[in-house]
This record gives sequence, structure tokens and C-alpha cells, in this order.
Amino acid sequence: ATLVARRAAAWCRWSRAVEVVRGFEEACATPTERLQRVVNSLAVEMFAGLASEGASKVRMLLTCIDALPNGSEEGIYYVIDLGGTSFRVMRLELGSGSMVINKKVEHQPIPEKLTKGTSEDLFDLIASALKNFIDREGGKDVGMTLGFTFSFPVRQASISSGSLIRWTKEFSIEETVGKDVAQCLNEALARNGVNLQVTALVNNAVGTLAMGHYYDEDTVAAVIIGAGTNASYIERSAAITKCQGLLTNSDLTVVNVEWGSFRPPQIPLTPYDICFNNYVKCNQYDQAFEKMISGVYLGEIARAVLQRMAQESDVFGTSVNCLSTPFIFSTPCLAAIREDDSPDLIVVSRVLKEHLKIQDVPLKTRRLVVRVCDIVTRRAARLAAAGIVAVLQKTGRDGTLCGTTKVRKIRGGEPKRSVVAIEGGLYQGYSVFREFLNEAVDEILGDEIASTVCLRLMEEGSGIGAALLAASYSSTRQNSA
Ligand code: GLC
Repeated sequence: ATLVARRAAAWCRWSRAVEVVRGFEEACATPTERLQRVVNSLAVEMFAGLASEGASKVRMLLTCIDALPNGSEEGIYYVIDLGGTSFRVMRLELGSGSMVINKKVEHQPIPEKLTKGTSEDLFDLIASALKNFIDREGGKDVGMTLGFTFSFPVRQASISSGSLIRWTKEFSIEETVGKDVAQCLNEALARNGVNLQVTALVNNAVGTLAMGHYYDEDTVAAVIIGAGTNASYIERSAAITKCQGLLTNSDLTVVNVEWGSFRPPQIPLTPYDICFNNYVKCNQYDQAFEKMISGVYLGEIARAVLQRMAQESDVFGTSVNCLSTPFIFSTPCLAAIREDDSPDLIVVSRVLKEHLKIQDVPLKTRRLVVRVCDIVTRRAARLAAAGIVAVLQKTGRDGTLCGTTKVRKIRGGEPKRSVVAIEGGLYQGYSVFREFLNEAVDEILGDEIASTVCLRLMEEGSGIGAALLAASYSSTRQNSA
């Protein structure tokens, strides 16, 4: 009788763990019809964001870019790319005819304390890295052009300057907010003896769009799915009713959507989505879309679910202390678990042991862990897909009349081919994520229109794109001088 009672109790505890997962799965459901409503909501927010400043959480920032690279750019350019846990210093040699002749890239991690320290320390770190890079390769700085990819929301009044609206992702250096970040970098470069000034200040989504367009003129939008997430696209200037005075005479303007702050009303936030508001003070209760999609957060959401399972049951045994440490379970761990296709889930065992110090997890529990990682990934990828379709809708490339669901072929004839350039470690390094995303884009658009949309990976797009924009805007300046 005791054995039976023990088995019944164990079964009961197991069921509670399963119940946690089932509840989470239900809350994360994204059936096609719900995604379509997410698309429409984001498109509406995008309209509002273009109408007037502050009308939407989706900022729709103007970039002062009215022409994209076309392949004629030439010369040697330096780039600094800042946006995640590391930054990149890059030297690019461009030849005409869309040719990157030579590329040298160096990655450098940013110590966590510098992401929360002083502006001067952060920009000095970057400037000195650029100085060492130039010295090491025996290059010169005088007369060279510098592109600066700065992947945070910035208000721009010119291509070479812009003030920081706020930090996102894991950065929070209060004193930089409101300052011109190009000037911050220029000053640091001067302090460190580098004779260079920022020619083009660009968001990573905008850089990726520039690179996409350089290789393929059908590129209408770009999306970042990495540490954070965002999109940019080419908008008709006439559709931007806010700040008309600031726009150039060109028919087109590149818009930085900043979709990370979108809060899709159709998708409930689960307790696991909001738990990090207790310990991540930066953008508390904000950046909902980004927190459900991007690399900084996915592992953390899964960790919170696993922690809940451990609280409700003994599926992970008794030594589960690690599970309560925020951010201990990274998104690459989540990806490794979801992609483990060995019959006995060896990788899952290894990740649980090495990263969470949980040993001897039975196979059926390992399967439950895979399911948690699957749910987190699926929702993220499908929401990103909805975002992509919303941007296509805004450009009129989704086969619908903007804002309505009436299907009409673009310009009454054959649908035009549309390319969306995509960059970011999460998309690039996680094939299951990519599959879910592609599948959802097809589902939302329907096969006919989906066949005209091409999602194209742009490795290093944000940095190379900044060089391309620095190239085209420095020559425009020289030509008009
Ligand atoms: C965050 C930033 C945005 C950037 C994105 C991807 O959402 O606010 O500017 O493009 O992360 O790095």
C-alpha cells in the first residue's frame, strides 16, 4: 500500500509539472488567425507612429536616409558596430559593382559594468579599440570615413548625428540619454588620438536594409533578430505626416520602426514574461515584443518556466538551486536543447548538467524540457513573422490593401518580388527558429503572395551597411560641396 501511495504521489507531482507546461503552452498559442490580428495591430501602430510624435509606442523614427546604396560605392571605410554584448570594429574595402573586396572584423566583449557605468568609459573603450585596430593593421585615419552602427533608438536631425531616446536591451547609462551619441564617439576618438569623425550614424536595422539593397534592389525592408529585435523599411515620404519639414525632397525615406516596444494586444503576457521586471529595471514592463522574441530574453523565459516546474514537483530532483538564478539559462542553451535530435536527448542532459547543475534527469522529463524550449521558440518566431508581414503590409507588398484584408494583387498585375534582409545571431544560428518563422510567414500571407517574398540572411549587414551609407553620404557631401 505504501508503494502504491508513493507511486500515486509521484504521479501527482509529475502531473503538476506537466500542468505547468500545458498552461504555458496554452497561453503562448499563436494560431494563424491570431497572428493576422497581430499583423493588423502592428500596422495600425505603424500608421499612428508616422502621423505624429508620441501617438504610438512604435516610434517610427526618421533616419535622414533618402537614398540607399546601389553598388557603385567604392573606397576604404571604418565601422564601429555597437548594439549587443560585444561591439565590432571593421575595415571594409568596397569596389564598384556591389563588391566587398576586403573585410577585416574584430569583436570585443563589453564588460557588463561598462553597460551600466559612464558614457565616457563606454565610448573610450570603443575609441581605443578602433585606435588599436588601425595601428595594428598599419592603416591611416586622416581623411578616412567612419560609419557608426548604434543599435538603440535615436532621434536624428542629420545622417551624422542623433540623440539617444533611451537605452534598450541590457544597457542603462542614464547620462547618455538625450545626448548626441555621434558626438560622444567623436569626442572619445579625439581623446584617444584618432583622427576620425562619424560620417553616418545608423541603426542596425537600417544598416542591414542598406546592405540588402546593395545586393538586391528589390529589398524593401530589413529585420534584426538577435540580442534585440527591430525592423526598418522604405516608406513613401508623403505617408509620413509628422515632421514633414524635416524630410528631404526625395519621394522615399527609410524609417526605423523600433518594433521592440510594440505590445501585441492579442498575445497575453504569461507570468514568466513579466517575472524579469522584478530584477531587470531597464524598461520595466516595456519592450514587450522584444522580450517575447529576442535573444536576451528567450532563455530567461524558459528558465522561469523550469523553475516553476521545480517548485511544483520534483521532476528535477532536489538540487535545483541554479534554476533560481536569473539569466543562467542562455538562449544558445535553449536552442541547443530544442535542436537535440538524438533519440535519447543526450544534449539535453549535457546542457542541464553543465549549465544548470541538474543531473540524472529522466528521459520523460527531458522531453518536457524540450517542449518548454519549443513553446518559447515557436511563439517568438511566429511573432517575428507577424512583424515582418506587418511591415510588408505597410509597404503594400503583402497582397492586401493596407489596413484592410481585401486581397488584391499589387498594382493590379503580378505581385512584385519583395526581399526582406535579415540579420542577427538568433535567426542566423538557430535553424528551428528560422523554420518556424518561414512557416508562419507562409501561413499568414498564403502561398501565392508568400512565393513573391524572399527572406534573405545578411551576415554582418548592420556593419557593412553602415560603411555603405557612410560611403554614399560622404560622396554626396563631397559632390554637393
Ligand atoms: C533594440 C533597439 C533597436 C535595435 C534592436 C536590435 O530593440 O532599441 O534600435 O535595432 O534592439 O538590435
